[in-house]
Amino acid sequence: MNVIQTAKPLDVVIMAAGKGTRMKSRLPKVLHRLAGKPLLQHVLDTSAALKPRGVVVVTGHGAAEVQSGIAFSQAQLRYVLQEPQLGTGHAMQQAIPHLPDDGIVLVLSGDVPLTEAQTLQGLITACDGTRLALLTIKLDDPSGYGRIMRAASGDVLGIVEHKDATEAQRKIQEIYSGIMAVPAMLLKPWLARLDNRNAQGEYYLTDVVKFAVSDGVSVVAHPIEDALQVAGINSPLQLAELERAFQQRLARQLMAQGVRLADPARLDVRGELVCGQDVEIDVNCVFEGRVELGEGVKIGANCVISSARIAAGAQIQPFTRIEGDALGVEVGPGARIGPFARLRPGTRLAEEVHIGNFVEVKNATLAAGAKANHLAYIGDAKVGARVNYGAGSITANYDGVNKHHTEIGADVHIGSNCLLVAPVTIGAGGTVGGGSVITRDTEPGVLTVARAKQVTIANWKRPQKKK
Ligand code: UD1
Ligand code: MG
Repeated sequence: MNVIQTAKPLDVVIMAAGKGTRMKSRLPKVLHRLAGKPLLQHVLDTSAALKPRGVVVVTGHGAAEVQSGIAFSQAQLRYVLQEPQLGTGHAMQQAIPHLPDDGIVLVLSGDVPLTEAQTLQGLITACDGTRLALLTIKLDDPSGYGRIMRAASGDVLGIVEHKDATEAQRKIQEIYSGIMAVPAMLLKPWLARLDNRNAQGEYYLTDVVKFAVSDGVSVVAHPIEDALQVAGINSPLQLAELERAFQQRLARQLMAQGVRLADPARLDVRGELVCGQDVEIDVNCVFEGRVELGEGVKIGANCVISSARIAAGAQIQPFTRIEGDALGVEVGPGARIGPFARLRPGTRLAEEVHIGNFVEVKNATLAAGAKANHLAYIGDAKVGARVNYGAGSITANYDGVNKHHTEIGADVHIGSNCLLVAPVTIGAGGTVGGGSVITRDTEPGVLTVARAKQVTIANWKRPQKKK
């Protein structure tokens, strides 16, 4: 007879009640950001990839702030409050009401952000619904961590915390990562047996290992070699080091795809960067949110680009700021932006648009070939194809209360230092003379000049200084 084994449901518990004293910050530790995302959010996103039945987050310090600082859409997310914090075993005891007997419990820490879903899947497989599985790693410097004690046979006997360990035990290099997978049925009675008779006077979750051994439940260590995946954050230095390590790894992945980075040590991706073929990125660029760079896009040095789609062949010259936020920014094929340009939310630029130095564009559409090359503002506007928008010209879109729209037809020439007082429409093919203040719509094809006429005063004398 064939027995069909169905995998047990997964319940994740993320411990995040600790104070994070060494961060010396008002912000709860798990809300500090790595690659632009709160540490706890990394752990939640990885958990989501495992398709758990439930996720329990144990909070304590800054519980309300932690809850409002993160987002989770998949599976059911529950918070339990641990007050006071009496250790990792005590934290797990608080989660028990949300852990059904038929599940596998995966224990994670909110301050260990870079564990990969595949690694956790391997740990769950090692647990197999019947065993206690511990994620372990050998470290050159294991100090501070719980050490894995093994019998001569290699069988795991227990975990001894650094502060409770003898000199000989402290020489053990294999450490417990803080991550385990265990059937809920087995875990619950062990949690009930914990005590706090140890060097720190805490209820140690790690004591469940010795209960497993004495109950004859098999304990498996699931060793990995990638230290980044189990690295925890305790201090600003560790946060910065892990950020660098993460960025370097990402830079190597991008280069493996063919992206040419001037210097992999000077790139920061705080979101998702998707690149086509032959993309070049110069030094000190920061990418936030989702940014797409089409084939052959070149990004100059010192650009900060958020939530944007930049089409094939576009060039973003040095010191450009693109901030798409919720509305996004789109840069068309072959466009040339910068240096020193600023594209704000809702900017849509068609192919071959040029935006030059000290030009700001917000919530505006520029059709193919339109150019604003120097010192200008275009906000809440629709600009036609091939428009030339002169230096120093602005759309006066705000009357102090409401925003108004400006429409500029195709092939218009706006001279320098013009003020287009919205709402206003400039007819296609028209020209606006430099220095004009335009308050009424103009007809297509005409020249409009709205400024004081030049006068000559022949006999005028300059004032003289009195002697
Ligand atoms: C723990 C392990 C240790 C392991 C190390 C890996 C225990 C007893 N020891 O030690 O074997 O090598 O992690 O990093 O588990 N937390 C709570 N409530 C508490 C205490 C802690 O939620 O009362 C949370 C913390 O916020 C943190 C996690 O549990 O996210 C780990 O706590 P921490 O104090 O860092 O444990 P370690 O002493 O590092
Ligand atoms: Mg720790």
